[in-house]
Amino acid sequence: MKIAIIGAGAVGLFLAASCQKAGQSVTVFTRTEASASVINKEGITLTGRMSNITPVEAKHELNENETFDLVIVAVKSYHVSNVLKQFKLLWQKGCSWLFVQNGMDHLEELTAIPSSVYLGVMEYGLYKHDHRAVVDVRGIGQLKMAVYRNKQVSSSNKEVETLFPFSNLNVVWMDGYQKMLEDKLVVNVCINPLTAILQVKNGELRTNPIYQKEMHAYFIEVMNVLERGDMEQMWEYVLSVCLKTAANESSMLVDLKRGRKLELDAIVGYVLKRGHEKRIGTPKLTNAYEQLVGSSV
Ligand code: PAF
Repeated sequence: MKIAIIGAGAVGLFLAASCQKAGQSVTVFTRTEASASVINKEGITLTGRMSNITPVEAKHELNENETFDLVIVAVKSYHVSNVLKQFKLLWQKGCSWLFVQNGMDHLEELTAIPSSVYLGVMEYGLYKHDHRAVVDVRGIGQLKMAVYRNKQVSSSNKEVETLFPFSNLNVVWMDGYQKMLEDKLVVNVCINPLTAILQVKNGELRTNPIYQKEMHAYFIEVMNVLERGDMEQMWEYVLSVCLKTAANESSMLVDLKRGRKLELDAIVGYVLKRGHEKRIGTPKLTNAYEQLVGSSV
């Protein structure tokens, strides 16, 4: 199977190494020529809970005649628009697409793609070293997947599942994408802004009672906005992600430390917008947004 992976962050490199290890032919598309040449020279190194070095091809630009069976888009949510424009040549080539982003803001843009689209939620704790193709696997979680739009109308969910070469990962297929993305949104709303404000690892939000109380206040607001009733179950879930990724710095904290744009609109901004529409108050999250927005370049 020929797979294009767009994005050479922690998730993109992790999936690229996993697919290549599973015997697929992988090409990683990077934003800069420099990062493509690092991958071509050194391969992708996984350290921590998974450890190997995998040679993978990387490129900076797509050739006109190139085609793939599967395109995995693993860029930050605010780059999805640009990626769709840049890789428009692939739209008509019948490839399947898998999008793995935090937040829910980018979904509408995906309706323009004429072939099958799938969504993924990454729950492994991953940390990419700056300027290197090295990903530290700090927590083993799951890769949740769901169909967004299946153009292979005749194929059952089981057949769709075999399209994905993630035999060496814990993949869980979900019945619908909406709940899957909402669950991840709740996790990200609870963990990402607070770890960025406090500059702490994910595990501390669970072990420090003062931090946990603050996180619970964020939790109540996002659950109210999403009008979710499964409070107890979801709170357990949030705490379990804190535990599984305890040694990890959230992606928002990493972005903040590196002076990069934060996924603030896709995560907190999305909840504030929905809360505003539904006239549901979000004072804690509004405050968190205001504290962080100045740091988002
Ligand atoms: O964005 C992140 O950092 C991750 O989605 C998660 C699950 C919060 C783990 O750090």
